[in-house]
Amino acid sequence: VTAEKGGYEHFMLKEIHEQPKAYRDTMLGRMNPEGTKVILPELKMTEEQIKNIKNVQIVACGTAYHAGLVGRNLIESLARIPVENDIASEYRYRSPIVTPETLVIVVSQSGETADTLAALREGHANGAHVLAITNVVGSSIAREADDVLVTLAGPEIAVASTKAYTSQIIAFALFALYLAEVRGTQSEKEIAHILAAMQSLPEQVESILEKKDDIKAYAEHISKHEHLFYLGRGVDYAVAQESSLKLKEISYIHSEAYAAGELKHGTLALIEEGVPVIALATQEAVLEKTVSNIKEVKARGGEVLAITHQEHVNDLLKSVDRVIAIPKTLPMLTPALSIVTTQLLAYYASLALGHDVDKPRNLAKSVTVE
Ligand code: G6P
Repeated sequence: VTAEKGGYEHFMLKEIHEQPKAYRDTMLGRMNPEGTKVILPELKMTEEQIKNIKNVQIVACGTAYHAGLVGRNLIESLARIPVENDIASEYRYRSPIVTPETLVIVVSQSGETADTLAALREGHANGAHVLAITNVVGSSIAREADDVLVTLAGPEIAVASTKAYTSQIIAFALFALYLAEVRGTQSEKEIAHILAAMQSLPEQVESILEKKDDIKAYAEHISKHEHLFYLGRGVDYAVAQESSLKLKEISYIHSEAYAAGELKHGTLALIEEGVPVIALATQEAVLEKTVSNIKEVKARGGEVLAITHQEHVNDLLKSVDRVIAIPKTLPMLTPALSIVTTQLLAYYASLALGHDVDKPRNLAKSVTVE
């Protein structure tokens, strides 16, 4: 049994460690040798269709939905097209405004999620072009979509998704850059700069994995708590949401993700002495604001761990209890690194509590009912 887990105790831990390879495989052959252009020959969408896109709707469930939140930031900032995110089970029932100039992107690891498939059909019924980002080539969603961008994460067995999520982020980054190229919203120099940063990600993930013992110690500490909060701004908030889901799924510790600036509008009432709060603080542009939010938490006795870049560690240590540093990348790419720390945190918390990490109670890997 450990052989099929590649020597790891659980599939989840194996899959967390497979992320550097999943990033490399998902990028492989998808840029020119000079690293100045994204090439996606599999796409049937014409340049004219791409130039005519008026809006994008990203629809998915669970972890794939959270990848879509990161995708939105990438597409909006690089290609300047308005993007909406929808939970697949909600999408059809809100009568979404879809036109033939809408690009619907469905995201699904398995390609079999019933609600996501229904959303794809809703897009089609309204004349939209549908692009699927999926990990399974022959899946129902891949077969019905107009275009498919495959993530090359390899089979994912653990119910809690890890490498599929991060590969979806890589796919979104490639696709957003491709849109930017075709629509002329970024210079070749800027695109080359982002592609270079993307190519450093696998090695940077490896360096996070080497420090997993620090995370394990903290996980054992939080495993004694009943409630926990994740905070962040911008893409850090997107990562906070996925981090919180990961923890709930496998450790059964109750946790909530909050946009750091929103906490004071209600949820701050739940912060009392010793409540663990994990602040994702990687976005320089809003770092000062996040630090003010951290201080609000500290003033109520919350115990704060910050996840940030090395250069901010000393500064942050003035306001928080502990820091985990992640390697430096472009702000829009940090989710591909910061999430690895919180995946490990969820894993080790579940392990400390003696739960079935790979097969959490009540959950299925793929949900084929609506
Ligand atoms: C299930 C899984 C989640 C997953 C979601 C969507 O709930 O337990 O981990 O994120 O389905 O799955 P999909 O295959 O569509 O990405």
